[in-house]
Amino acid sequence: MSKNEIIQIFQEKFGDQSPEVYTSPGRINLIGEHTDYNGSFVFPGAIDKGMTAAIRLNGTDKVNAYAIDLNENSSFGLNEEDAPSEGWAKYIFGVCREIIKRGGRVKGFDTVFSGDVPLGAGMSSSAALESVFAYALNEMLNLGIDKFELARIGQSTEHNYVGVKCGIMDQFASIFGKKGHLVRLDCKTMEHAYFPFDPKGYKLVLLDTAVKHELASSAYNKRRESCEHAAATIRKNHPEVEFLRDANMDMLDEVKNQISEEDYMRAKYVIEETQRVLDVSDALQQGDYETVGQKMYETHYGMSKLYEVSCEELDFLNDVAKENKVTGSRVMGGGFGGCTINLVKDELHDTFIADAISKFNEKFGHEPKVYEVVISDGARKL
Ligand code: GLA
Repeated sequence: MSKNEIIQIFQEKFGDQSPEVYTSPGRINLIGEHTDYNGSFVFPGAIDKGMTAAIRLNGTDKVNAYAIDLNENSSFGLNEEDAPSEGWAKYIFGVCREIIKRGGRVKGFDTVFSGDVPLGAGMSSSAALESVFAYALNEMLNLGIDKFELARIGQSTEHNYVGVKCGIMDQFASIFGKKGHLVRLDCKTMEHAYFPFDPKGYKLVLLDTAVKHELASSAYNKRRESCEHAAATIRKNHPEVEFLRDANMDMLDEVKNQISEEDYMRAKYVIEETQRVLDVSDALQQGDYETVGQKMYETHYGMSKLYEVSCEELDFLNDVAKENKVTGSRVMGGGFGGCTINLVKDELHDTFIADAISKFNEKFGHEPKVYEVVISDGARKL
C-alpha cells in the first residue's frame, strides 16, 4: 500500500491530520538458521515487503490502532495491565512496554498500518511490525535509542508479550537491512558485515508452501531449551562455552551419554550450521555460488533430520529443487511450514518454478506461492 493510500485511510479514521509514515521490512536468510539464539552467525537481508504505518501523537496516554488488512481496531493504555486482547495489537503494546521498561517516555498515538509480508511464511512479518513501531516511536519521541536496542525491543516483545523465545536475527535484519546487501551478523558480539549480493546468472526465489503447522512457537522454544541444555552440560567440562557456538563436535561427543539423543541431534546441527555460515561467507567472497548452494542443501538436510523443523511439504519442494538441478534450496526461517529459499540459475528458473507448482499441486491440492527476492533497505521514514 502506498504512502498516500495509508495517509488517506488514517485521515478517514482519525480526522484530517497529517501523520508521519514509516516502513520496516521482512527478511530472507541465506544461511544460518536457529543459530542466533546459540550466539552464532546468521546471514539475512531485508526484502521489499514490509509493514507500513501512519502514526500521529494524539496528546493522550492511549493508543488507538487500526489494522487495515484485518479491518480491526484496538485501543489500549500504556500500563502493564492495559494489554489488548487482539493478537496483532499485542505486538504494538509490547513494543511500547519494552521502550517504557528501558526508561523511554512513550505517549499516546493514533495509527493505521498495513503489510505485504506473507503471514506464516517465515519472512518475519512480526519483526516488521515490531520494528516499524520501535523505529517510529524512537524518532517521533526523540528517545535516542540506538539501532541495536531497537532490535532488542522487538525481540523482547516476542519473549514477553508473544511467548516466542526468538533470537535477534529478524528484528536486526528489519532495522539494519541495506539495499543490495546481505548482512552477516555475529549474534554473540553483534559485529556485522555487509556483503554485496548480486549473484550474476542466478535468481533467489522463495516457494511458500502456504502451510503453517500448529504449535510452531512451543516447538521453537523447545529447540532452544535443548540447545541451552546441551551447552550447559558441555560447560561443566569447558567453562569457556557460553553458547553452542563456542563448542565443537569433540566437546559435544564428550557429553553424548549425559544428554538425550534429541538434545545431541539439535546441538550437532547447530555446531555444523555455524561452520556452514563461515564456509558460505568465504564462498560468497569468491563468487562461488555452487558452494553456497551445496551448503544450503546441507542446511536443509540438517534442519529436516537433526533439528526436525521441516515438514512433508518443505521436504517435497526441496526434492523437486534437486530434481531440477537447482543450485541451492532449503527451508528458510524457523520452519514447521513456510518457505523454501532457492538459488537457481537464470536458465533453469522458469522450468523449475513450473515443475514445482504442478508437482506440489498434484500432491497437496494447492499451489505454492512464488516470491522473487529483492534485497532492500531496513526501517525508515517514508
Ligand atoms: C525465527 C526467529 C529467529 C531465528 C529463526 C531461525 O525466525 O524469530 O530469531 O531463530 O526463526 O533461524
